Amino acid sequence: MSQSADLLINDQSYPLPILTGTEQEQAVDISQLRKLSKFITFDDGYGNTGSCESSVTFIDGDKGILRYRGYDIAELAEKSTFLETCYLLIYGNLPTATELSSLEARVAQFTELPPEVLAALKALPANTHPMAVLSCGLQALGGAFPDLSSNNKQQDLDNFDKSSSLIISAIRSIAAARYRFSRGEEFSGSEKSGNYCEDFLSMMFSSKDSNGIPEAVSKALDVIFLLHADHEQNCSTSTCRMIASGGANPFASVAGATSALWGPLHGGANMAVIKMLNEIHQSGDDGSKFIQSAKEGKSRLMGFGHRVYRNYDPRAKILKSACDQALDALGVDSPILDIARNLESTALEDEYFIQRKLYPNVDFYSGIILQAMGFPTDTFTVLFAIGRAPGWLAHWKEIASNGKRIHRPRQIYQGETLRSYTEIASR
Ligand code: CMC
Repeated sequence: MSQSADLLINDQSYPLPILTGTEQEQAVDISQLRKLSKFITFDDGYGNTGSCESSVTFIDGDKGILRYRGYDIAELAEKSTFLETCYLLIYGNLPTATELSSLEARVAQFTELPPEVLAALKALPANTHPMAVLSCGLQALGGAFPDLSSNNKQQDLDNFDKSSSLIISAIRSIAAARYRFSRGEEFSGSEKSGNYCEDFLSMMFSSKDSNGIPEAVSKALDVIFLLHADHEQNCSTSTCRMIASGGANPFASVAGATSALWGPLHGGANMAVIKMLNEIHQSGDDGSKFIQSAKEGKSRLMGFGHRVYRNYDPRAKILKSACDQALDALGVDSPILDIARNLESTALEDEYFIQRKLYPNVDFYSGIILQAMGFPTDTFTVLFAIGRAPGWLAHWKEIASNGKRIHRPRQIYQGETLRSYTEIASR
């Protein structure tokens, strides 16, 4: 039986359909409301707005559930790999062995960057932030493959197997090339083991006389990428979908999403966590003074809180134990890990954080692992972007295949009403 809601405005009733998702989430469908009533709905920051129907990822923030295409994140983190999860997100099902090896082969084929892309990366000012480099690099990549970035939706969809593998592969090459160039080194690609993370780590760090990358390290990185791979309608994914809704190609959409991810309240939080932990450590605080200043609104406990999770972020739970294992494997002792643990246990027993349902999020422990692996802090958000790329691509594909019209929210104008132009001499 189809349900509906009645909205009463100035004695006039408007029946609005109720939309029910496969996990029984419900929404009042207001898409016809303006046409019927001239009213729009107002939801500053979209906290209560469903912007689309999607079949990629399900989150129940109250219960701390995250599923990609129906599979629980903890099960995927234990049994799957990043590349297999890329396939799952983009194509909707786990791959057969043949499908997986064909994706692996496509990704391995694009490890090298076209010379024009390398030249574009080199031409950027030396102080350009790695996230800006990444965004430019992705646009340059689209430029190097005009057939794959035509802004003709059908052509871009027809070429999507190739463009998505290219982006998933080259995004790590762009990150590694920028890192090498920033150190005055050449970018020489990798040894090409065919293992996504091993190849990336080798592009980033290995020199001719290095002894290879410990397996535990590349495995930990694989789990970090997998945990970041999608998170439904977050800021950067919504940006990607918004750009895609206008008909832009996957390269442009992912480059825009990269910019959206950069900010400290979104992907930039993993850098902010390390900065915060280092400052607490240097000041001699064990975390208690910092907690007090966060409660007084003078600072924010970075890596804590989430718009959707009002319970423990399931990704943080996995990363907390991955953090112990990775540091053990690397034989690294991290004084800031003790501070992080102390901050977490203090916050979880404090009324301020309990009342506001603030728990550690995915960024709270990931930075500590990345730092122990030797990644400079300013590359952390780039690593988030590498992990998130398959999610952005899955959403690009969803919009390009099923999207009905360009995304275009409305607003409530609160500015000046009509006034007449004053000549400059009279102002
Ligand atoms: N430390 C201290 N207080 C906080 C924090 C925090 N990290 N987060 C929220 N609050 C307080 C906030 O001050 C407000 O208090 P009050 O009701 O007294 O005004 C209340 O909790 C609600 O906060 P909000 O800002 O309205 O919540 P939001 O849903 O708009 O923001 C958030 C979510 C993630 C931006 C925010 O929790 C935050 O800034 N966290 C720190 C940054 C961070 O870790 N971001 C990474 C998010 S996970 C990765 C990703 O998906 O990008």
